[in-house]
Amino acid sequence: MFEDLLAIREAALAELSRIETSDELTELSTSVLGRGGKLTAILRTMGKLSAEERAELGKRANAVKQELTEMFEERKAKLSEIAEQKRIEREAVDVTLPGVRRAVSAGALNPLTLVYREIRDALIGLGFTTFEGPEVEYDEYNFTLLNLPPNHPARDMQDTFYVNDKVLLRTHTSPCEARALKTLDLPFRLVIPGRCFRVDEPDASHSPVFMQMEGLVVDRNVSLADLKGTIDSFVKAVFGENVESRLRPSYFPFTEPSAEVDISCTICGGKGCSSCKGTGWMEIMGCGITNPHEIENCGHSSDEWRAFAWGVGVDRVACLKYGISDIRLIYEGDGRFLSQFK
Ligand code: DAH
Repeated sequence: MFEDLLAIREAALAELSRIETSDELTELSTSVLGRGGKLTAILRTMGKLSAEERAELGKRANAVKQELTEMFEERKAKLSEIAEQKRIEREAVDVTLPGVRRAVSAGALNPLTLVYREIRDALIGLGFTTFEGPEVEYDEYNFTLLNLPPNHPARDMQDTFYVNDKVLLRTHTSPCEARALKTLDLPFRLVIPGRCFRVDEPDASHSPVFMQMEGLVVDRNVSLADLKGTIDSFVKAVFGENVESRLRPSYFPFTEPSAEVDISCTICGGKGCSSCKGTGWMEIMGCGITNPHEIENCGHSSDEWRAFAWGVGVDRVACLKYGISDIRLIYEGDGRFLSQFK
């Protein structure tokens, strides 16, 4: 009996020294000290013993129980201390480490937006306000009111996407001239940005979608000199003070006289190079004194009101300003292209 007690004690201590987790400890503790445990089993057999033996065994068993309980407790404290230590190590934050770099890159404005804002802001400085019209437009506004009646040969100058007989995708921002003339009080000075559409096979210099900015100034007494001065001021705002502009006679049904605007070559400065085909000049837009027919078509007296107008291809200006060799890049939205305009 006493040997059994000693053996239980020895075995428990030996096992205790191998234990590594609190679960194992609980298991050991129950198997020795629990109700169905080994020590309890010995005490249950005490009935068979003599009174002295019983007293002795009881004393020793209690001593063993006491000893083991204490050692288990001690071990338990030690194990939870180790676990806590490990937790602290695991959760430790080294505040001296460099921060984690997150690959969040900010976007950049499309060159069209940059050029648009430059032209617009230069014109706002001259008393202009902005105006806009729809991209899906009536044939009447896109052509007829602008002095291009049905069957007018100049309609062929623009390859049009028709929605039906009367409705189309506007081929230029000029229909907004008619909308402004019909709806706003005169006089006014407008800058009119917008997306335009023409049936065009995309290539380096053509896109079926492109952006124009129309200018329209209506007043009682405006002249070609006002037109030239206005255009020159925004050309210089976009390209710099040393870039010159010139007017070259041309034809548009909605202006009379009409002109093309050239700027001195942005590559060679006007000496002549391959970009300007040796001329020293580059064409950027059309303009003119608004045809009296347009003013009359929109319900105003052409005796009382004069106007001048232009339509500039924003894509073309952006390509010239930033040296973009392919207009399609502007519309593809490739981040590697756009990030160059930050
Ligand atoms: N609408 C013309 C085009 O798309 C450009 C233009 C020329 C607009 C002369 C005008 C203008 O207002 O007066 O080719």
